[in-house]
Amino acid sequence: MKFNFAFLASSALLGLVTSVGALPKVTRTGRYLYQDDGTRFYIKGIAYQTQGLIVSGPDNPLNQPSTFVDNLADAAACTRDLPNLQKLGANAIRAYSVDSSQNHDSCMNALSGAGIYVILDLTLPLNGSIDTTQPSWGTNILDQYIKTINVFSKYDNVLAFNVGNEVLTNGATNAAPFIKAAARDIRAYLTSISSSALIGYADIDGASGFRDGVAEYLSCDPSGGNTDSTSIDLFGLNSYSWCGNAPASTYDILNAEFQNYNVVAYFSEFGSENCNPGTRPWTETDVMFVSPMTDVWSGGIAFSYFPAQSTNHEFGMATPSSDNTTVTTNADFDNLVAQYGKVSFVNSPTQASASASSFGACPSEGTSLEAAATLPPTPNKSACDCVASRLSCVFTPSTSDYTDVMGVLTGVVCGLLPNVTGNCDDISANGTTGTYGIVAMCDPTIKLSYAFSQFYDLSGRKATSCDFSGNATLKVSATDTPASAVSACITSPSAVFAPSAPANASPASGSGSGSGSDSGSSGKTGGAVPLIGERNALVGMLAMMSCVLGGMLWTLA
Ligand SMILES: *[C@@H]1O[C@H](CO)[C@@H](O)[C@H](O)[C@H]1NC(C)=O
Ligand SMILES: *[C@@H]1O[C@H](CO)[C@@H](O)[C@H](O)[C@H]1NC(C)=O
Ligand SMILES: *[C@@H]1O[C@H](CO)[C@@H](O)[C@H](O)[C@H]1NC(C)=O
Ligand SMILES: *[C@@H]1O[C@H](CO)[C@@H](O)[C@H](O)[C@H]1NC(C)=O
Ligand SMILES: *[C@@H]1O[C@H](CO)[C@@H](O)[C@H](O)[C@H]1NC(C)=O
Ligand SMILES: *[C@@H]1O[C@H](CO)[C@@H](O)[C@H](O)[C@H]1NC(C)=O
Repeated sequence: MKFNFAFLASSALLGLVTSVGALPKVTRTGRYLYQDDGTRFYIKGIAYQTQGLIVSGPDNPLNQPSTFVDNLADAAACTRDLPNLQKLGANAIRAYSVDSSQNHDSCMNALSGAGIYVILDLTLPLNGSIDTTQPSWGTNILDQYIKTINVFSKYDNVLAFNVGNEVLTNGATNAAPFIKAAARDIRAYLTSISSSALIGYADIDGASGFRDGVAEYLSCDPSGGNTDSTSIDLFGLNSYSWCGNAPASTYDILNAEFQNYNVVAYFSEFGSENCNPGTRPWTETDVMFVSPMTDVWSGGIAFSYFPAQSTNHEFGMATPSSDNTTVTTNADFDNLVAQYGKVSFVNSPTQASASASSFGACPSEGTSLEAAATLPPTPNKSACDCVASRLSCVFTPSTSDYTDVMGVLTGVVCGLLPNVTGNCDDISANGTTGTYGIVAMCDPTIKLSYAFSQFYDLSGRKATSCDFSGNATLKVSATDTPASAVSACITSPSAVFAPSAPANASPASGSGSGSGSDSGSSGKTGGAVPLIGERNALVGMLAMMSCVLGGMLWTLA
């Protein structure tokens, strides 16, 4: 009885929570977004993320932040800022990093109550994103993404989860297969928990060959089966090409390029500071929300609510007081209020007349797109844990912040392995050739232990070969070679499947608001010093700044 009573009470509560003020579900039909009553949906939003700490230095050439603030866990700040978001008439915010161990109920419910959707990047600074130059798609980032999804899938106002922000850059596109694998596995996961949230990627602007190649690749179907299974739903362009009171023709090139795009396109950031620093007129919204742009784009995210600096530029529109109790907005903000206030959404085409997307063959590789159509497998945590349990020489970090040490040590061991007829192929992944080492999907710590164990094994299993300046520990009871550990544990190396949540994740609850419809290391041989790369991970605000910078350079070019 007691159980039943509790059960009824909690269902009644749930009923209440979901029926009061539930936001309309937003889904993708072909290349457009629609609410469940069939009205076309446009993103009229603003970036909402405090800039992280930037430690400049030679190993941080792009001035990437190394920390983040979880703004969606700061109930008081959300209460403080909500009136401003409402004044803007914003229907969406974009957040770049959240801490899945925090409680987000207050902010998320307040935003939902105000009709504001959230586009949420799943990435974190430093090693919490797929790396630009040393990419892999492993259990560590997959688990991080799933933990965040499980915390946010219960809210009715999550429009989309972004699987990356500015990971691919002009000249470094070999991480694209890993982004696509992330989209594939996150899609399968969202389906498995009955979440209808959309999947996005936010791209740095650049030369058209780069931009088009990335856009086309992320929404192609390498299987030739015309399915969305490895595609994103939302292609975001961080676009800074409009400057001051530019002419409408500024967007002609972009409009032409995306004219036949197959999924939703929008501006995941916009608002160049180059022409009117501090007092942007935001006149691009006069053309962004009318035809012909509405045939191609579904709105955008103005950058940025909070102060965000790049060299000589300040993109912020609202500055919190030193005690955070109040916030002061600037002229830029007022201009955006006026411009967003003029927007009325064009309800065309109708949902019934929107054609289904077709998912074509992937673009061929070339200098502007170094991405094979062969994707890495779904990371299999139980297989990786099984391998780890059988390795003889195990990485034992002496500090909890071991990312840098791991980079150095991977370089060291991959430099040593050739001396004993070994190599780092098993832990390496190469998106250009589409070759993925058998344990490349594992956590970087396991990959390092694997390489240590290879060296120990090939050196004749002498205890002195398992040291690495005190970073390795010998497990004398382990008798497997790395190869026999792999063959005992990894039965189908190329398997693609719906991943499950890690043991320590919150329980998932599907909802979200959108849904598609229609249907470590790679230190190669040769003493590379590779894993410094892990540290380079572009993410969140970090990447954002580089994107901003990139956008500007491109604009000025
Ligand atoms: C104000 O908020 C920022 C961002 O959340 C935080 O880093 C800072 O410590 C806060 N300051 C005070 C005095 O609470
Ligand atoms: C993952 O690896 C485990 C351990 O080898 C195996 O039992 C399981 O079948 C694999 N899962 C998939 C979906 O391939
Ligand atoms: C990043 O590195 C830290 C240790 O430096 C580790 O605790 C964390 O799990 C890593 N995150 C990912 C996604 O690998
Ligand atoms: C490994 O081999 C390289 C090249 O053959 C050599 O220069 C280096 O000294 C060797 N290192 C060790 C530790 O044996
Ligand atoms: C991938 O392989 C190609 C061709 O062998 C090579 O040029 C490239 O440097 C490799 N990339 C990485 C990240 O190892
Ligand atoms: C581990 O490796 C790092 C990087 O090479 C080195 O600085 C450190 O002294 C090593 N030993 C320990 C116990 O951390």
